Amino acid sequence: MEQTAKDKKSNIILALDFLFEKPENREKLFSKAERILNAVEPYICAVKFNRHLVLPLGTFNGVAKLNEKAHAMGLMAIMDCKVNDIGSTNQTIAEYYYSAGFDALTANPFVGWEEGLKPVFDVAHKLQRGVILLVYMSHKAVWEGYGQTICNAETGEKTLQYVSFAKKALKWNADGVVVGATYPEKIREVHETLGKKIPIYSPGIGAQGGKIESALKAGASYLIVGRTITLSENPAETAKNIRDVANECK
Ligand code: XMP
Repeated sequence: MEQTAKDKKSNIILALDFLFEKPENREKLFSKAERILNAVEPYICAVKFNRHLVLPLGTFNGVAKLNEKAHAMGLMAIMDCKVNDIGSTNQTIAEYYYSAGFDALTANPFVGWEEGLKPVFDVAHKLQRGVILLVYMSHKAVWEGYGQTICNAETGEKTLQYVSFAKKALKWNADGVVVGATYPEKIREVHETLGKKIPIYSPGIGAQGGKIESALKAGASYLIVGRTITLSENPAETAKNIRDVANECK
């Protein structure tokens, strides 16, 4: 990822998300996605998929083909599936996504290690792919879960949930963590825990109110941008502007 961002001179990740389409319009989603990817490709280092395209296009027919295109453009491909189940299910999910060409996927540390995310890390590292852990999300209600104060049942020690997740990212050797751009103070705190060992991926720029400069200054390495680009009248120009502002902040 680091090398790709250097080569592409961009740390912007396109979230290739579109709004719900009625059945008669769903076939157009593939060409719409392809068109935006072609237009925006010079200004990004990776493309991130979510259920927005996996559900209507399918993993192997539609999304895998877009992954191939992204790779041919020198981009990385991330699946934002937030793996969040028992270990054997998580493992199967990860195997399908990696075999569809994804370089990394997102996972939720709430499920823990043994029979939780360990099988995902095992598969990822066997295939030399990545796992990016959610540490602090970008939406308003995030404090209800990721912001809780938790108490270690064995030691009685109190800590914040997201601080504990950042420490788990180090312990589990994660390839990245997600911290919302809408909370630059959390990015800073998590960055202090992780240092340069694990990069921070930050969604929430634009549509959710997060700011490029404050996220980068706080320690984010990569910015994830979706609707601000995909719903823009001129996605290429919007992506270029975001890339330029981000590069000026370096
Ligand atoms: P927008 O349109 O808001 O899209 O720029 C952001 C994309 O990123 C996803 N997202 C997150 N993914 N942790 C994640 O793993 C988060 O905190 C988070 N916030 C937003 C969102 O679903 C969309 O695909």
